Amino acid sequence: MGCEEDYPRKQHQQQYTNRSSKLKILLLLIFSNLFTIYILTTTPSLNFFNFSHYTSHHNLPLNWDIHTNTNTTSDDYLLLQKQLNTTQSLLAASEAHISQLQQQLISTNSLLETLLSELGRFHNDDSISSIDERMLTDELKLAILPHKLPLGYSPRMGSDSVHPPVGAGCLRFKDELNQYMKYNVGGECPVDDVFAQRLMLKGCEPLPRRRCHPKSPVGYVEPTPFPASLWTTPPDNSIIWDPYSCKNYRCLVERENQKGYFDCKDCFNLQGREKTRWLFDNGGLDYGIDEILRIKPAGTIRIGFDIGGGTGTFAARMRERNVTIITSSMNLDGPFNSFIASRGLISMHISVSQRLPFFENTLDIVHSMHVLSNWIPDAMLEFTLYDIYRVLRPGGLFWLDRFFCLGSQLNATYVPMFNRIGFKKLRWNAGMKFDRGAEKNEWYFSALLEKPMI
Ligand SMILES: *[C@@H]1O[C@H](CO)[C@@H](O)[C@H](O)[C@H]1NC(C)=O
Ligand SMILES: *[C@@H]1O[C@H](CO)[C@@H](O)[C@H](O)[C@H]1NC(C)=O
Ligand SMILES: *[C@@H]1O[C@H](CO)[C@@H](O)[C@H](O)[C@H]1NC(C)=O
Ligand SMILES: *[C@@H]1O[C@H](CO)[C@@H](O)[C@H](O)[C@H]1NC(C)=O
Ligand SMILES: *[C@@H]1O[C@H](CO)[C@@H](O)[C@H](O)[C@H]1NC(C)=O
Repeated sequence: MGCEEDYPRKQHQQQYTNRSSKLKILLLLIFSNLFTIYILTTTPSLNFFNFSHYTSHHNLPLNWDIHTNTNTTSDDYLLLQKQLNTTQSLLAASEAHISQLQQQLISTNSLLETLLSELGRFHNDDSISSIDERMLTDELKLAILPHKLPLGYSPRMGSDSVHPPVGAGCLRFKDELNQYMKYNVGGECPVDDVFAQRLMLKGCEPLPRRRCHPKSPVGYVEPTPFPASLWTTPPDNSIIWDPYSCKNYRCLVERENQKGYFDCKDCFNLQGREKTRWLFDNGGLDYGIDEILRIKPAGTIRIGFDIGGGTGTFAARMRERNVTIITSSMNLDGPFNSFIASRGLISMHISVSQRLPFFENTLDIVHSMHVLSNWIPDAMLEFTLYDIYRVLRPGGLFWLDRFFCLGSQLNATYVPMFNRIGFKKLRWNAGMKFDRGAEKNEWYFSALLEKPMI
């Protein structure tokens, strides 16, 4: 505790030290540059400026060939030739000086580069490399600091130690991370799902691993057999309800009739809207699964990924067509991951910020509904789209289902962005969203994009 109170002051001191080192380096940098300029301008042999002075006032000799005139006397010739000789020698001298200047410039540049990289190292020290290890609990140190390899240097890794991967954002939230790593080793983990997920969503993803057991549901029964599991609501005692405002599945199912905002509020009712999703193609924003599959030769769409797939209904419908879909989902006030798994489908608890855990050119289809939208910072969205392109195989399909944005953003931001990625457009539909009034200028667009074959 005392250590923690100490922390801000220590950090401040450290920053101060770093700052003064930076200042010294900057001064050195400025001084060395001034010195170089001084050398260049004062060395007597370097009368480059003198030369330009000369040429600007006597540019006739340089143009002598062009101005040859039949009426020129031999005296004129002599004068002109003399001037030409002078010019030529000046030119030769100045050429030598220029190459000398270039040499000095190159060496100055390399000096500058060295200093800049030195500065960069100092800068990085502030945030990443110099984690104040006293600030980390022992368990957190074990979880995230590098470990020496017992067999020594590994050519495969190019290193003799290994860093456990955690999100770069984690180090910005040291207090929360320490809190997350507070548990009895070998005991039961705290039920801190909401806290942990918030940490993930802010950029501490992946979270460090822990050495504790998650709380286990009491009275767990074997899951419903497949394929009945696809459309069966699991028993309430199959999960831990502590992290959610609902405490049973009936509450989740009835959410669709409640006022207020909940993520995917009608998704838990498998007999409601979920039952008919993607079964019909309305020729507009909503495409049908069978219509999409028919675009490719039968059986060639086999494996894929659904980004932010709610309760997994897209994967369920695809499973019925012998297509294996992995569904990513967050547990935003609902046991989405548990629910997907209970249906006999594979769920993945990763956010849209995460690099997709698939190898390049492997998936036949990527689908995403509602999740990719204008809440994502533009630059991040572009990385996401490139990542989708990366994991799709040539000829693979990206089914973008109802991307939400404002009319002003559609043509200004998103159409050009999607064009940049390099997909081939098979379908593109934009439609206004009227439920909150036309004056809001809210839009959806859906698209079927194909990664080109080369
Ligand atoms: C030009 O160069 C000469 C020597 O070559 C020097 O004496 C003179 O001061 C220089 N003039 C200027 C303007 O630099
Ligand atoms: C040549 O120069 C003389 C005098 O220097 C002049 O009278 C004559 O017109 C000139 N001829 C031409 C072709 O410029
Ligand atoms: C110009 O230079 C050439 C050789 O470089 C020389 O033969 C000639 O006499 C010079 N002319 C004058 C006017 O200095
Ligand atoms: C799925 O695969 C099974 C076993 O190969 C086959 O019997 C069934 O007809 C297939 N279903 C569809 C919709 O293709
Ligand atoms: C976007 O551009 C298209 C084609 O230029 C145009 O038809 C459409 O109305 C525009 N949409 C919006 C929302 O401005």
